[in-house]
Amino acid sequence: MTLSNRTLGVGVVGTGWVAASHVRAIQANPHVRLVRMCGRQETRAREKLARFGADVSDVGFTRRYQDLLDASNIDIVVVATPNHLHAEQAVAAANAKKHILLEKPTGLDIRELVRIRDAVHRAKVRTIVSFVLHYNPFIRFAHWMRKAGWLGTIRYARFQYLSRILSGYPGWSWVRRADSGRSHLLAAGCHAVDAMRWCTGLEPTEVSAYHTKFTKGYQWPTSIVVNVKLGRRAIGQVVSSTDFMMPYTFGVELMGDRATLVDGLILWNDKAVSLAELRRANPFPDVVLREARAADGNPAIRVECDMPASADVRQHPFQGEMDELVHCIRTGCESHLNVFDAQKTMEVCLAADRSAIRGGRPVSLPLIRS
Ligand SMILES: NC(=O)c1ccc[n+]([C@@H]2O[C@H](COP(=O)([O-])OP(=O)(O)OC[C@H]3O[C@@H](n4cnc5c(N)ncnc54)[C@H](OP(=O)(O)O)[C@@H]3O)[C@@H](O)[C@H]2O)c1
Repeated sequence: MTLSNRTLGVGVVGTGWVAASHVRAIQANPHVRLVRMCGRQETRAREKLARFGADVSDVGFTRRYQDLLDASNIDIVVVATPNHLHAEQAVAAANAKKHILLEKPTGLDIRELVRIRDAVHRAKVRTIVSFVLHYNPFIRFAHWMRKAGWLGTIRYARFQYLSRILSGYPGWSWVRRADSGRSHLLAAGCHAVDAMRWCTGLEPTEVSAYHTKFTKGYQWPTSIVVNVKLGRRAIGQVVSSTDFMMPYTFGVELMGDRATLVDGLILWNDKAVSLAELRRANPFPDVVLREARAADGNPAIRVECDMPASADVRQHPFQGEMDELVHCIRTGCESHLNVFDAQKTMEVCLAADRSAIRGGRPVSLPLIRS
């Protein structure tokens, strides 16, 4: 039987908060079957997964990651462990010829990124990196709107990942540490960097960043502001912080020479965006466009859909990434969110952290020459 018509086996390493979401996504895809979980302690793992809403009562368990790699009935490995384990486990999975769903951040330094790139390149396996916002209706709409030309040429973009993560987070024991969490951008704000790249379609060429620390308990700075040169002429900013006294906010601003998308509002200046035409062109049934008013009373358009408004992974669209990976494996095509693309996001994060450590000195991109 070929890969295209048999049920694919999946093994998951990591048995925490996000693993539970991947388990649900695996169980909802008709072409895959969850074969085995891998964790450090079975009773605790099963209890945690059940608490986070995943039923793994009929799924095998192992403490040895190698068991997932040796199993001939496992085709896909989902890596959902703390950040410092991702690279090692992804490289091992690629070497074992397993397809990979890899949690962000992919690698925590240049060496790890290069190792992942080379291993996946050699093994020719399919990968998808868990920048799950690509499947959020609003981020998907923002990407489409720019790509379809409704905003014109992008001049400025700002993406903000503002989430006050404290000891209530299930991964608090490792995320706050420098060895395993590493930095705010690597642990969290990489979502904003990635969304900026995807939504603008522009690659950062240089960054300059400042960071600071307000929130106690972390071994790394808890806020970073990154100025970005985007492509040839555009500029942008990424803010990644755990310090602000507000609910989780994922801010999106895309300013083109034709129109602007600021969070849920489409604004313009010289030439109006036609609501009727935009409605006709909008390919997403789950995105509703309504007449609205800008702050100055002028006409605007409101985008109504599921916004990236929650830090709770139970509300994140993990189904989309699992379905895309499975589709790519079955049809032999490349995913749009593979480790090679994600590497570019990670390089921006590493460059920004490097710049902030050096007091804001600009750092050029890419860091890794192919
Ligand atoms: N894409 C997204 O939107 C998103 C959202 C949240 C998190 N994440 C990412 O997902 C990953 C997991 O985060 P989480 O929130 O699920 O954290 P978590 O709840 O702490 O889960 C981590 C799991 O890894 C296990 N683990 C810890 N150390 C291990 C080791 N040395 N060997 C094997 N397993 C080990 C833990 O098991 P024990 O029970 O034994 O400690 C725990 O089950 C992180 O990389 C995070 O950045 C991504």
